[in-house]
Amino acid sequence: MKERVFSGIQPTGNIHIGNYLAAVRRWVELQNEYENLFCIVDLHAITVPQDPSMLKAKIRETAGLLFAAGIDPEKSSVFVQSHLSAHAELAWILNCIIPLGWMQRMTQFKEKSAMQRRTVSTGLFDYPALMAADILLYQADLVPVGEDQRQHIELTRDAARRFNAIYGETFRIPEAVIPEVGARIMDLADPLKKMSKSGPGGAMAIGLLDTPEAVRSKIMKAQTDSLRDIRFDEGRPGIHNLLVIYELFTGMARTAIERHFSAKGYADLKRELAEIIIGNLSPLQSHYRELTSDPSYINHLLTEGAQRVRPLAERTLSLVKERMGLG
Ligand code: AMP
Ligand code: TRP
Repeated sequence: MKERVFSGIQPTGNIHIGNYLAAVRRWVELQNEYENLFCIVDLHAITVPQDPSMLKAKIRETAGLLFAAGIDPEKSSVFVQSHLSAHAELAWILNCIIPLGWMQRMTQFKEKSAMQRRTVSTGLFDYPALMAADILLYQADLVPVGEDQRQHIELTRDAARRFNAIYGETFRIPEAVIPEVGARIMDLADPLKKMSKSGPGGAMAIGLLDTPEAVRSKIMKAQTDSLRDIRFDEGRPGIHNLLVIYELFTGMARTAIERHFSAKGYADLKRELAEIIIGNLSPLQSHYRELTSDPSYINHLLTEGAQRVRPLAERTLSLVKERMGLG
């Protein structure tokens, strides 16, 4: 039996190179070794306000980008969270066993709610319970994500252990898989913040569908510092972030990268990095255009994906209900 990989991505904003390097590209790499489930989490997306027609379009765009990046529908099931009611149902059940104090410790909620103040929804607070439901429903072994999701996966493990302790062995305890390098790609305008899909005004992320001109302009504008030498130094977040992106796209060793730039300046690094990113995104973008030329094709793959995973979700949900005496 192959171990099972599960991960999710929100269909909001523009999927960026941080999502790609830390998550999507690794999902592609894991495909041959594991059984894979990738979920487009639209129920998570509505924890903050969304425009309905935009959301619908973004779900298809996200799916298209996953396939364009190399997720193979023969090897991986890609599906939309709201196509299966079991996610919301299990989230409710987990709500009733997760102590409030655990949820109150979630740092992502504290950050996100601080930005919205009065309009923050109850759903945003409950986001981690829905995420735990996503993972536990499929009895996943491994959850490949970026660093920002570590705490949510810890909560998922704790919730699963607590349920198992109260009602008997029901859920497999999943493990987070977080890359050693690039688990947190930083914003280009503010390298102290993580790159994000829909950041505040000045934020600067490189989207997977960005044109070459946009990539060049953003990289050239990226914040650096007033020093000159080019080396990996976490104390210099701007230059460090550019070098990490360079490292991940080229696969070169750090020492080789530092040697390569030893007699060069920041402008050279930026020029080279922009072309490397453009070269990496270009095949993905043409694949995306091919895949989306027939809009019904993506819908078809998503329907198939949901059909394939439904029996797994239903099996866990009925076991949970039985254990709890529901119905
Ligand atoms: P999200 O954009 O929140 O739906 O995230 C999708 C995946 O990308 C998750 O595994 C995140 O942990 C990961 N991710 C999001 N932003 C970054 C970032 N700036 N650097 C690295 N990984 C990220
Ligand atoms: N919360 C994740 C993010 O924003 C997305 C997500 C939802 C997820 N459910 C998941 C990731 C389950 C891994 C497993 O990145």
